[in-house]
Parts: sequence; structure tokens; C-alpha cells
Amino acid sequence: MTTVAVPPIPTAPGALPLLGHAIPLLRDNLAFVTSLRDHGPAVGIQLQPGRTTVVVNEPALIRTMLVDLAPELDKGRFFEKMGQVFGGDSLVTAAGADHVRKRRQLQPAFRRDEIAQYVGLMREQATHVSGNWRPGQTLDVREAMVKLSLDMVIATVFSSGVDERAFDRLRRDLTVIMSGVGARIMLPDWVERLPLAANRRFNESRTALRAVIGTAVRDLRASGRGTGGVLSMLLRARDQETGQPLGEHQICSEVITLAVGGTETTASVLAWVLYELARNPDVDERLRAELGDVLGDRPVAFEDIPRLTYLHDVITEALRLHHTGWLVTRRTLGSVRLGDWRIPAGTELAYCQHALHRDAALFPDPLRFDPDRWRDTAWREGLPDGAFLPFGAGKHKCIGDHFAMTEMATAIATLIRMWRLRLAPGRSVRPEARATVRPSTLMMTAQQVNAGSC
Ligand code: HEM
Repeated sequence: MTTVAVPPIPTAPGALPLLGHAIPLLRDNLAFVTSLRDHGPAVGIQLQPGRTTVVVNEPALIRTMLVDLAPELDKGRFFEKMGQVFGGDSLVTAAGADHVRKRRQLQPAFRRDEIAQYVGLMREQATHVSGNWRPGQTLDVREAMVKLSLDMVIATVFSSGVDERAFDRLRRDLTVIMSGVGARIMLPDWVERLPLAANRRFNESRTALRAVIGTAVRDLRASGRGTGGVLSMLLRARDQETGQPLGEHQICSEVITLAVGGTETTASVLAWVLYELARNPDVDERLRAELGDVLGDRPVAFEDIPRLTYLHDVITEALRLHHTGWLVTRRTLGSVRLGDWRIPAGTELAYCQHALHRDAALFPDPLRFDPDRWRDTAWREGLPDGAFLPFGAGKHKCIGDHFAMTEMATAIATLIRMWRLRLAPGRSVRPEARATVRPSTLMMTAQQVNAGSC
């Protein structure tokens, strides 16, 4: 019997000594990562000179990586860079038994009954943020959604809130940090050590972020108040093994994790939903009709959300067409088998949801915003495992998935009943990939919705 040799994983063209693939990544990282799908189920790129990152393109292999190989993988480069912000002892950067323990500590905050409690706070924030808009005002919608998402996360984490000046600082620092993390993923590590203004700003923002959160945590702890937010829960939590309360450093790290993990992601999806509603008046009208039918004149409540099925499809379609993930990484701890390949220890693996969700072989007419595709049950059930991964899969699957869906539904159901956002003429909007994929600037004009007209 003859054995057929497996061809090695190809390497994408264009790598340079010292720089790896930094040039095509800096030129247009999304186009570069998307082009990698043309090289087959897996392809090598160099983020760090001399070290290969295998970008996995095929759904079945992505699933193998996220689920089957999970115990044999560490989190890899993306999370190492995020870890510079999270502080190294948070859930996101933890592996093995440490990850399981930390996930258990946070999980109660994301139980269904807890999320139900947060809806009032989320709705209040959406009403408050949009309450400052004026009819005819042109808004930077991406920035407005970052503000709203951060406000929603902070309100649910701290429950009692953080003062407005600290909030402003938090928002500014998060923006610097998220851009910095995006650049650090693409550039060789030595660039971080150069005395550049960007590196200085990143370090200052990181220190300031921890200081603001640290103060809020200490204040709440000192007040002895049980506010019912996620933070109160973390303050009450005990380490499973030692029975001790969590240390202040870890609590701050987890709060930063939630603020970072739950802000840009949600903000981008919300901004894209508003953009697509403006571009697709038929979708906009159907959504408003559904809100009218289900809610009447009432504000949205947690119990309404399962009945807002079209809203669910609109958000799901935004998670498909405009996914925020462009390079989610892992690293092999030992040698592993991925499909036909044997991958050596210490290899970086990655996948790109943004490109995966736009693959024409999986999603017909992939660039069309079509919420109805999710109503086609036969098609949906026929999607291969690993083809649609809005919240990832396996043991690192997003802990905030239900929270995020509830938050986005609450925000959209609240905002669009008060406002109709129009696209400013002549503006082009494109996706840009920093730490997450987000719209470049998104300027829209706010038009007040007359009572009873939606
Ligand atoms: C539209 C919104 C969101 C999207 C698209 C999203 C997406 C994801 C994805 C794909 C992962 C898995 C990453 C991996 O495979 O390593 C993840 C993990 C995570 N997400 Fe989200 N997320 C969203 C919102 C949130 C929110 C609102 C929170 C918290 C308030 C959150 C907290 C986390 C945390 C802590 C993890 C790490 C889980 C672990 O490693 O065990 N996310 N998210």
C-alpha cells in the first residue's frame, strides 16, 4: 500500500526578515487576513519574525482547534497582548485548572436571573445616552456606541455607577488601549520597547485604567454596601481551593476584562446594526413594526426579548457580516494533530471570524445584509460546525454571550424607538481592524421619532 505524503502547510507570500508580514498587515490587515482563505484550509503567516502563526480557515479545523484541542492549547499572541492590559491574572489569560476556577468565580454574574436584573440598568443607560442627542445633530455613532456599551457594562458591574469624570477618563484610556493592542498584535515585539509616543500613551492609559478601576473597587469595598452588581458578587466570591476572598489585584483584573471584553465588541455590533438599518429601510420598517406589536408603548423588558425574533435575526446578521474578531489565537503546548497535519509544540494557531462569516461557500451572497437568512431553518441547520462562531466555541466561549445579546437587544429596542439615524451623505464607512473590527468613523444624523410612529 502506498502512503500519500501530506503537503506541508503553505506560507503566505510577502514575509520580510525582521518584519515578518507586518507590511501587508499594516497596509490593510483585514484584506490580508481575508486573502489567506485563498491558500486552503490552513496557511502560515509571520507576526513575529521567524515564528509561524498557522491561520486556520476551514470550519471543521477551526472547531477542532477551539473544542477538541482546547486542553492542549494555550491562548497565544492575541491574548498575551490583551494580558498586558488585563494584568495577567484574569479569566481571559488563564489556562488549564486556573481557567476553570476563574470561570466558576465569574459565572454566577452571567446567570439568566442576574441578566434579567441588568435589563433595567441597560435600558436606563440607552435612554440617558440618547437623551443628550438633538434632532438634526450629526453624531459619531461609533463613539456614541462605545460610550453606551461602556456605560452599560460599568453600570452592571458597579451597579451604583462611577463618577462622570472617572467615566470620561476610562473611555479615553480604553480607546488608546484597544488601538494599542491592535497594533501590538501585528508588529514584532521589539517595536513595543521603542521610545515612541504611541508606546508611552499606551503605558500611561494602562496605568490610569487600573488606577480608576482600583479606586472604584476600594470605594465599594470600604462602603460595605452590597449593590447587587457584578462587583459585589466578586467581592463576596471565595476561592474554591483556599476559601479565601479574591485579592484586589484579581478583582481589578476581572473588572478590566469585562470592561474591555464587553465594550468594543458590543459597541461595534450596535454601530453596525444602526448603519445597516439606515441602509436597508425595509429591514428598519419591519423591525419598528415588530417593536410596536410586541411592546406597544411600553419600554422593553427582559421578558419581551425572546418575542422580538426579528430583532434577534437583525443582531445575528450583524454578528455574521460585521464580526468583531479578526485574529483569535491559541498556542500549542505540545505537538498536536490538526486535520492531516502534525503541528509542533509552541506553534501559534489563529482564526478570523470576520473572514469566515463572509465566505461565499458558507453564506450565499455573503456581503448582503439579510436577516431573513436566519429564518431558513434547513439552511441554518445545514451550516457546518465551526462556520458561524459569533461567540467562539469550547471552554473559552464568550462568558458574556447572553449578556451581550440582551444588552444589544435592549439598546436597539430603546434607541430606535426614540431616534431614526440617517447616514450622512457622501460618507463611506469601511471596517477597520484594531483590537477588534469596528466601523471606521460612522457619522449619522439623528432624527426624532414621533410618538406612535414606529
Ligand atoms: C457582541 C459582543 C461580544 C462578542 C462578539 C464577543 C465575542 C467573544 C469571543 C469570540 C470570545 C472567545 C474568544 C476565544 O476563543 O478565545 C469571547 C470571550 C470572552 N468574552 Fe466576549 N464577546 C462579546 C461580548 C462580551 C461581553 C458583553 C462580555 C462581558 C461583559 C464578554 C466577556 C468575555 C470574556 C470574559 C471572555 C473570555 C472567556 C474565557 O476565556 O473563558 N464578552 N468573547
